[in-house]
Amino acid sequence: MGKTYTLAVIPGDGTGAEVVDEGVKVLKSAAEKHGFDLDFKWYPLGGEHYMKTGEVLPDSVLAELRGMDSIFLGAIGHPEVRPGILEKDLLLKLRFELDQYINLRPVKLYEGVATPLGGKGPADIDFVVVRENSEGLYAGAGGTLKRGTPDEVAVQDSINTRKGVERCIRFAFEYCRNRNKKKKLTLCGKTNVLTYAFDLWERAFYAVASEYPDIETDYAHVDATCMWMVKNPEWFDVIVTDNMFGDIITDLGAMIQGGMGIAAGGNINPEGVSMFEPIGGSAPRYAGKQIINPLAAISSTQLLLETLGEQKAAADVETAVKKVLKDRIKDVGAGRMGYSTAEVGDMVAEFIKTGVSEESN
Ligand code: IPM
Ligand code: MN
Repeated sequence: MGKTYTLAVIPGDGTGAEVVDEGVKVLKSAAEKHGFDLDFKWYPLGGEHYMKTGEVLPDSVLAELRGMDSIFLGAIGHPEVRPGILEKDLLLKLRFELDQYINLRPVKLYEGVATPLGGKGPADIDFVVVRENSEGLYAGAGGTLKRGTPDEVAVQDSINTRKGVERCIRFAFEYCRNRNKKKKLTLCGKTNVLTYAFDLWERAFYAVASEYPDIETDYAHVDATCMWMVKNPEWFDVIVTDNMFGDIITDLGAMIQGGMGIAAGGNINPEGVSMFEPIGGSAPRYAGKQIINPLAAISSTQLLLETLGEQKAAADVETAVKKVLKDRIKDVGAGRMGYSTAEVGDMVAEFIKTGVSEESN
């Protein structure tokens, strides 16, 4: 008998539930094919739950999540809930409490997907952003004084610990080595202005680099990184950066790989419980219409399977996603796929079941 993994599923808000259903369908198909079992536990957290109960993330749920093998999240964000509540007390709280210190976001253009970058194709757009996910400007350090008065002061500090920065950088070097492509790691920072924070980052980066002589190192300021991502995306292999810069450049990354409909991400604690999510939001105006693209959620199940160590199952998910993008759906945008959300999930699940040969992919 194969292993059994316990997976927490948090559909969340808006279109989260629809895309999560397709991700679960695909996970089941991959598990069946590869001989392991999945035990799903569903948690109705999110905007609706908050409005009904006043609860965002009860301690009892957090305690249960700590015992899971992995977490699959749909989307967070409800139009009737004041911005910041669900983001801070649900999504960011999960990332911080479970110490998911890596936010892994592949930027990969698949065949059949349109990119806004003229003259660039799948061979040019294939890199991974390793975003620090537990510190920086997201740490919540700072405060306000004399709020609402003409003398108001607001301070928001970026926290960068040597330990936190180094573990992220080390993960990026390891990831780059295992990925085994260009074997080049770019540190994205702002050493010319943020002379305290990125001084620490830079020293940690080159100190860890000495342990990885097989990896080429490179540095780019964050503004230049944005420029190169558009102008010469083929220069990148793996990029490592802090929490805020990583947040920003991965939205740019999502756009060059075809849009939010296919951008996947993982919040990873390599020693603990990780959480996978499509990087787009809850898109409330599309909710319940079955027009949203579930491939971002489905590709995040690929990352989930990789992190569990089910490499073959993960590879099958990617092969099936590629086939759907190349041969089936017309456009990755919501309402333009030529199929419903569920039909796209069905196709991926079916391709995993029947197997897609390498040549046809
Ligand atoms: C993301 C999102 C979140 C972030 C928000 C919703 C808090 O933009 O996952 O990139 O800023 O990290
Ligand atoms: Mn973001």
